[in-house]
Amino acid sequence: MDKKQQLLNTIQNNIKEYCDTYFDFSFKNENPVVHLHEPTTSGDEIFAAVETMLSTYTTMGKKVRAFEKQYADYAGTQYGVMSNSGSSANLLAVAALANPFTPNYLKPGDEVIVPALSWSTTIWPIIQHNLVPVIVDCDINSFNFDLNKLEQAIGPRTRAIKLVHVYGNPCNMDAIMSLAKKHNLFVIEDCCEAMGSFYDGKSVGSFGDVGNFSFFFSHHISTLEGGISVTNNFDLTETMRILRAHGWSREADEHQKYVKMYPEIDPRFIFINLGYNLRPTEVNAAMGQLQLPKLDALIDNRRETANFYLKQFAKYDEFFQFQQETPKGKHVWFGFPFIIKDNAPFTVKEITSFIQKNNIETRPIIAGNMARHPAFNMYTHRISGDLNNADTVMNKGFAIACHHAVDQKAREYIAHVIDQFMQPYVTQNAKRSAEVMA
Ligand SMILES: Cc1ncc(COP(=O)(O)O)c(C=O)c1O
Repeated sequence: MDKKQQLLNTIQNNIKEYCDTYFDFSFKNENPVVHLHEPTTSGDEIFAAVETMLSTYTTMGKKVRAFEKQYADYAGTQYGVMSNSGSSANLLAVAALANPFTPNYLKPGDEVIVPALSWSTTIWPIIQHNLVPVIVDCDINSFNFDLNKLEQAIGPRTRAIKLVHVYGNPCNMDAIMSLAKKHNLFVIEDCCEAMGSFYDGKSVGSFGDVGNFSFFFSHHISTLEGGISVTNNFDLTETMRILRAHGWSREADEHQKYVKMYPEIDPRFIFINLGYNLRPTEVNAAMGQLQLPKLDALIDNRRETANFYLKQFAKYDEFFQFQQETPKGKHVWFGFPFIIKDNAPFTVKEITSFIQKNNIETRPIIAGNMARHPAFNMYTHRISGDLNNADTVMNKGFAIACHHAVDQKAREYIAHVIDQFMQPYVTQNAKRSAEVMA
C-alpha cells in the first residue's frame, strides 16, 4: 500500500474512532435533553468530506453531477441541479421560470400564489424577480394550502403556484395539479421540509415544473448546507445550470452549441445569460452521496416518533390539535407541531416555557404567517382572503423534535414532561381516557 493510502486509512480510522466515541445522540436519563435537531452525518460522511478536500478537487465537478443523478433517480425525475442551499434551489427555480430562455416566462407584475405558512425564501425570490406574491391561508388540519382559498385567489394576473409541503406533509397534489392545469399555471414545489415525502406513491417535487429540496443541517439528510432542484424539463435544467454559475454556458449539457454560435469568444467564458454564484462544492456532494441511501431509514424513525406522540397525546385532544397526514400521502415529520385550541386554559408561552425548562427544545411552526413579518411592509404583495388559520398557527402553535435520533427513552421523557404540565388541566373526560390508555 502506498504512503498516501496508508495516511488516508489512518485518517479514516481516527475519524471513525472519534465518532464512535463522541457521536452519541441517544437520550440519557441522567442528563435529559431533547434538541430540535441532531446531526445525521456519521464518520463515513465526515471522512468523505475530508478525503474530498485532501484530493484538492473541491469546487463543483463530477461528484456534484453524480449526486444530482442519484437524487433525481430517488425523486423519480429526469434531472437535478444541486445548489448551495434550499433557498438557492428556490431562487434558481423562480429565476429560471422568470427568464427569457423559458417559453412564456413570468413577467414583472405577474402573480405567484404562495402559502402564508411558509418560509422567507419560499417568497423572497418572487419579490426579487419583480413578481407579486399572493398570500393564501393554510388548512388547519393539513397545514398546507386551503384548497378553496387557493382557487379563490386565482386572478387574471396569476401565472404560478409555489406551494410548500408543510413539515413534510405532502399537499393534495391531485387537486393542485388539476387547478394548475385548468388555469395554465406553473407549479413550483418547495419541498425543503419534505425530503422523502410521497403523494400517491410519487415523490414530492416530481409533480410540478420544479421541486426544491434542502440539505441544511436540520433536515432529513444533510450536506452541511445544500439544496437541489429536480425537474423533468431539460430546458429548465439547462437554464438553472447556467443561472447557477455566473450565466456562463460551461456547465450546460449543450455548451458546445454555444461554442459554435460564438466562435470568437473563449469557450470557457461565454456569458449567455444573467446569473448568480449558487454552486455547491464537491464536499457537499460527497456527503450527499453517502447520506441519501440512509434517508428512508431515518424517516422511518421520524414516523414512529410521530405515531407515538399522536397516540400518547390523543387523550389531550380537548386542548390540542395535531397535523393530519394528507390522504394518499407519506408524511416525513420535519418536526412535531402542536396547536393549542381556543378553550385551553394555558398559553403557548406557558407550555413552551415549562417544556424548555425541562430541556426539551421548542420552536414556532416554520415562522408562522409570513405576511405578518415586517419585511412585507416594504414590498408589493396581495393578501387573498383571510389568513385566520395561519394566524392561529403563528399565535397558538409550537413544535418539538421529531428527528431520526429521537429514541424511545426521549419519547417517553417528552410524554412524561407534557403529562406533568397537563396534570392541573385534565378534565374528567381526559382523565377517564388516560386511565383507559394506561
Ligand atoms: C419551506 C422552506 N423553504 C426553504 C427553506 C430554506 O432552506 P435552506 O435553509 O437550505 O436555505 C426552508 C428551511 O428550512 C424551509 O423550511
